[in-house]
Amino acid sequence: MYSKIQETASWLKERMPARPETAIILGTGLGRLSEEIKKEVVIPYKEIPNFPVSTVEGHEGKFIFGKLGSKDIIAMEGRFHYYEGYSMKEVTFPIRVMNELGIKTLFVSNAAGGTNPSFRIGDLMIITDHINFMPENPLHGPNIPPGPRFPDMSEAYNTDLIELADQIAAEQGIKVKHGVYLGTQGPTYETPSEYRMFARFGADAVGMSTVPEVIVARHCGIRCFGISIITDLGVNGKIVKVTHENVQKAANEAQPRMAAIMKEMINRS
Ligand code: HPA
Repeated sequence: MYSKIQETASWLKERMPARPETAIILGTGLGRLSEEIKKEVVIPYKEIPNFPVSTVEGHEGKFIFGKLGSKDIIAMEGRFHYYEGYSMKEVTFPIRVMNELGIKTLFVSNAAGGTNPSFRIGDLMIITDHINFMPENPLHGPNIPPGPRFPDMSEAYNTDLIELADQIAAEQGIKVKHGVYLGTQGPTYETPSEYRMFARFGADAVGMSTVPEVIVARHCGIRCFGISIITDLGVNGKIVKVTHENVQKAANEAQPRMAAIMKEMINRS
């Protein structure tokens, strides 16, 4: 495993125009921020040695090296989801590689269903914590040093970055919510009873990604920051049929606000 990570990292290093310390994962359909990146090198996942192979058409995915404002960054456009059939090791392989490339801060975005009754469709939720409700922990198995066997998770989402996000959102007049993201394996959306259960567990939003990547990033000592776009509501009395199309539509509408916050944070952090 470790030799594969190193092999992929050295392959990428030969092609990297700079040595960025910041990376962004743009959830599927959340590529708006990538339009603002001055792209220097773009590599489809399928060309990267040892990268999981995407089986879903239209889910190509690419690594983008470039500049956002004055900062060198790596952007992952598209991610690997557990529900697609990838193992947790595959889902989080890019994080291990990015750690090897010298990434110190990771920004993540996703679409999620709101379980907090005060949320509305289109809200941006700054992730303050998560609940791993996936069937496996990505650190299952032999430990990959130098990360500890039993990693601390008391501050999975960096509090300084959360503060900075609040400050930037206030400056820009963008309303944000805070909340706990619960990750499920999907691919089903929730039944009304499941939404209710997750709300009682302490979740404000539920989605099918992010948790594995953040666990591995923290294991590597990478600082994490995440925003969920609330694309549907799992709240009693407000539950309607969830379709992928509606999720995409709500995500599209909210993307520019999310991109504005992320962009400014990356410039200042
Ligand atoms: N549940 C799980 N994942 C999601 C949802 C949801 O309601 N909305 C967008 N991704």
